Amino acid sequence: TPRQQPVIAIDGPAGAGKSTLAAHLARRFGFLNLETGAMYRALAYKAIDSDLDLDDEVQLLALTPHTTIALEPTREGNRVLLDGRDVSRRIRDADVTAAASRLSVHPRVRVWMVAQQRALGIQGGVVMEGRDIGTAVFPDAEVKIFLDADPNVRGTRRFRQVAPDQHEVAPVTEAAVLAEMRARDDRDRNRAESPLKPAPDAILLDSTSMSLDEVLARSEEIVRAHLPPT
Ligand code: DC
Repeated sequence: TPRQQPVIAIDGPAGAGKSTLAAHLARRFGFLNLETGAMYRALAYKAIDSDLDLDDEVQLLALTPHTTIALEPTREGNRVLLDGRDVSRRIRDADVTAAASRLSVHPRVRVWMVAQQRALGIQGGVVMEGRDIGTAVFPDAEVKIFLDADPNVRGTRRFRQVAPDQHEVAPVTEAAVLAEMRARDDRDRNRAESPLKPAPDAILLDSTSMSLDEVLARSEEIVRAHLPPT
């Protein structure tokens, strides 16, 4: 590969703690943190906004030639710009979450996304987080971590992440959050094109009974063990 700096791939299901881990590793090693889920969310938002049918791959694909999605790293995570407009908050809403899950099953939409993501990481020095980074986007990544956790634990963590002010706007139950997450998981794991699964050479981390600090410390060790000594 032409890159001078490594790629660290973080994959796994929703609610496993990938974003926190990716942000931590990026800060620790001075790399760029790129959250690929935000790109699927941004395109899904544009599809909703354009009244498109999320099951119609041809319609969705027609959006892509005049769509630009940029990720700008900030201290609080990626700022997401869709055609130059900041959509960072809007793309976290439940309707976009559901739409991104449906949109991401389409093989040709994924081909477009993967090309964008490769271009973003081509020079290395990135922590890229998603579902298929180690299997499809950067199969030659220097470090691959697959972060998993028991579905019930992930559901509870997700539920707690939903800010109290959001609960007031649209009350949700923990059971509803868990059900929604399982539906997304199933779609991710069972789609034909690059389904969610660990790359053969990924290091599996199950965070079910690990504290956040333990996950971060263990991951740092893994990264150090795989990077050339400085
Ligand atoms: O990580 P997230 O919840 O923000 O991802 C949103 C959706 O995008 C998720 O339902 C699966 C999909 N996704 C994907 O298919 N491949 C990726 N690399 C990242 C996300």
